[in-house]
Order: sequence, then structure tokens, then C-alpha cells
Amino acid sequence: MEPLGGKTILITGSTDGLGRLVAQRFAKRGATVLVHGRSKSKGDAAIADISKATGSHKLEYYNADLSSLDEVREMARAVLSKHDRLDLLINNAGLGGGPRGNSKRELSRDGHELRFAVNYLSHFLLTYMLLPAIKAAAPARIINVSSIGQHAIDFRDVMLEKGYDSFRAYRQSKLAQIMFTIDLADKLKGTGVVVNCLHPATLMNTNMVYEFFGSTISSVEEGADALEYVATSEDTAEVTGAYFDQKREAKANGQAYDSGAREMLRRLSLSLTGLEGRDLD
Ligand SMILES: NC(=O)c1ccc[n+]([C@@H]2O[C@H](COP(=O)([O-])OP(=O)(O)OC[C@H]3O[C@@H](n4cnc5c(N)ncnc54)[C@H](OP(=O)(O)O)[C@@H]3O)[C@@H](O)[C@H]2O)c1
Repeated sequence: MEPLGGKTILITGSTDGLGRLVAQRFAKRGATVLVHGRSKSKGDAAIADISKATGSHKLEYYNADLSSLDEVREMARAVLSKHDRLDLLINNAGLGGGPRGNSKRELSRDGHELRFAVNYLSHFLLTYMLLPAIKAAAPARIINVSSIGQHAIDFRDVMLEKGYDSFRAYRQSKLAQIMFTIDLADKLKGTGVVVNCLHPATLMNTNMVYEFFGSTISSVEEGADALEYVATSEDTAEVTGAYFDQKREAKANGQAYDSGAREMLRRLSLSLTGLEGRDLD
């Protein structure tokens, strides 16, 4: 792998699991790594551990609960106040199905269905707000950590008010990330910014998997290998708008390729995040 000296990388949800491991790998490769989480004490511990393991002092911590769009806005402003260039944004933070059997519908602080809000909408807003810095760093990359678990969005009930199921909510949010990837890649053509997404690995040994499935199939190292490849390999430098199943380009749920559905999702997302009229200006 190429060294990443001089590059600035933000990874959401890097206090644990996949994001935490990739943050450490990127720090080892010389990048300035912006670690994000929702608990300051866990974030400080992650920074201390990564610094000890890699010898890097180019680490910063940003705290934001992604279930609040105001906290996302504050975080984006904090990042932009320190960095006018961002080479790589990895939208990784995620909430899984939760404890199995618990089908209680949960809402974000803004009143949106919680998984849609945390896994997708917060990252939509964060990405739009950070775009000036990402474009300034071109060639730059945006990676959305999605999943092979995908469920088509019912645009008559995006907030899942009827027949709620937390795992469907998770899979809907993961497909929304893929639709966002394709849409944004298209809009950013010619800017030097590529946008891709991936399924890192199946049932890695992380908290969200233990909580919902109770057992694992693959390791977080396998997921980190795939994420590192899609996010930083020369092979993928010119690829944009793609969904990878680990290191291989693959087909996502059919709704991802429906331009009308993507347009509906984009309009809804611009409206829910208060970005109407701004789009990509
Ligand atoms: N594990 C798998 O097998 C698998 C498979 C396919 C896709 N993925 C995707 O991979 C990504 C990483 O998942 P993981 O397996 O590494 O899970 P994880 O170990 O549970 O880590 C999730 C990360 O997201 C953070 N997070 C969760 N809710 C948040 C919120 N409201 N605000 C801010 N941060 C929040 C967590 O913070 P805390 O440390 O505070 O909890 C943690 O840092 C997710 O997008 C997931 O959907 C995972």
C-alpha cells in the first residue's frame, strides 16, 4: 500500500469496530486521521491507543452524535475551521439492528426514523457540508460503508411508521447510502472527486453483529482490507459511482439504479437537512 503522508482523512464511527481499525492503519501509513465518535471518553481513549500503536501524533478527535443534525452541522464546521482540504471522507458510523427481538421504532433527535437518520441522513448532510474541502483536495475520495443487506425504500413510508422492523430499517438505510453514492458520483463527475461504496465483509466480529446476530462469520481485519482497498488503492482511483462487495465491483439492489427513486431520495434528503436550493452549488 502507498504511504498516505500529507493526506487528511476523516472516518466517522472510528471509536470502535471497522472504523477504529482502519483509522489505526491510516495513521500507520502517515495520514492525519480525524477520528469521530459520540463519546468523548471513548474518543480520547481511541486516540491514545492509536497513537501508542503507531507512534503518530497526527490524530484529532471530533465528537458528534449523528442522531442529531445540529451536532452534525457543528462537527462539519469544526472540521472546516481546522482543515481547508480533506482528501478522504469515510462515512462509516452505523447503528445495526439493535438487540434482536426489539422492534420498538426509534426516532432521532430531529424526529426521523433512527437508522435512516444515523446511517444515511447524517452522512448526507456531513458530506454536503464538507464538499468544499473535499473538492479543494482533488483528486479526493468519498467512501460510504454500506452493506450487502439492502431493502428497497417505500417512498410512501420512508420513516417506517407502519409495521416497523429494525433490521429492515437498517437495510433501507444501507441502500439509501448506495443510492446517494451513485447520485453524488454523477454530480461530481469532472471535479476530481470519486464516490464509491462497499459491503466490507459479512458478519464481522463487531459490536453491532454481536448485538443482533450473536455470532460472527468474518473478522474486522477482512473488512478493513476491503475498505482500505476501495478507499486508497491505485486500482480504484478512477472508479466512481460503484458498489463493491468487498474488493469486487458488484450489483446492488435494483432500486439503486432507478434514477427516479434516487431523485426522490435526494430531494427528500435536501429537505430534511434544510439544504433545499443549495444542492451542489
Ligand atoms: N459488522 C459487519 O459485519 C458489517 C457488515 C456490513 C456492513 N457493516 C457496516 O460497517 C460500518 C461499521 O460497523 P461496525 O461493524 O464496525 O460496527 P460497530 O463496531 O458497532 O461500530 C460502529 C461505530 O459507529 C458509531 N456510532 C453508532 N451510532 C452512532 C451515533 N448515533 N453517532 C455517532 N457515532 C455512532 C459507534 O460509536 P460507539 O463506539 O459509541 O458505539 C462506532 O464507532 C457500519 O456502517 C455497518 O453498517 C458492518
